[in-house]
Amino acid sequence: MHPFIITIDGPAGVGKSTVARMLAKQLSAVFLDTGASYRAVTVAAMNAGIDMTDTPAVLEMMDRTAFEFEHEGDVLKVFIDGRDVTQAIRQPRVTENVKFVAGQSQLRSRLVILQKQFAAQFDRVVTEGRDQGTVVFPDAASKFFLAADPKERTRRRHEELKAAGKEMDFEMLHEQIVTRDASDENRTVSPLKPASDAIHIDTTHIDAEGVVNRILEVLNEKDG
Ligand code: DC
Repeated sequence: MHPFIITIDGPAGVGKSTVARMLAKQLSAVFLDTGASYRAVTVAAMNAGIDMTDTPAVLEMMDRTAFEFEHEGDVLKVFIDGRDVTQAIRQPRVTENVKFVAGQSQLRSRLVILQKQFAAQFDRVVTEGRDQGTVVFPDAASKFFLAADPKERTRRRHEELKAAGKEMDFEMLHEQIVTRDASDENRTVSPLKPASDAIHIDTTHIDAEGVVNRILEVLNEKDG
C-alpha cells in the first residue's frame, strides 16, 4: 500500500517547514524536511574538503557515509556517520553551498531514493521541499504550493534568526533569499515550480496557523 502523502513545495523562507510540521501533527502524520537531506550532503562534502563541483567525488563520499534522519518530537534530527549535525546544517555557509548539491541530477536522484525510502516506512507523510509534488511524489493525495512576497519571507527569516540569537543584516538576508530563489527556480534539474495539480496559497498576509487551517479546509472539502 502506498502511504498517504501530502506535498508542500515553495521558495526559501515561505514557512514550509513550520506549516508541514504543524499539519503533520494535526493529521498524525510524519513530517519530512527534504531540504535537510540536501544540507546534510553539503555539510559532509564540506567537512571532507571535497570540491563541491566534483560530482563523482561527492557520489563516492555519499557511498561511504551514513546519512540518518530521526524524529525527536517535533524536531527532525540529522546524523552523519552517527554525529549529530542538526544545528550544523543550518549554518549560512551551508545555505550558500547547497546549490552545488541541489543542481546536480545524479546527486538529486540519490536523494530522491532516500526520500522515497523514508516515506515508504509510514502510513501518512507530510513532505516539504521544492520538487515534492512535481518529481518525487507525483501521485501524492494532495499537493500545495506556498508563495509569499520576498520581503515578507526575509522578515520571517530575520525574526527566526533573531529568536535563535543569530541576528543578521536585513538587506543581506534579503539578497540571499532573492539569490536562492533564482538558483532554485532556474536550475535545469527539478527546478522549483508548482505541480500542475497543486493548490496555491499566498501566505504573505496569513500566519502559519492560518495556512494550516486553509490546507485542512481543502482536505476536508476533498473528503466530503
Ligand atoms: O528548504 P531548505 O532551505 O532547507 O533547502 C535548502 C536547499 O536545498 C534549497 O535552497 C534547495 C535545495 N532543495 C532542493 O533542491 N529540493 C528539495 N526538495 C529541497 C531542498
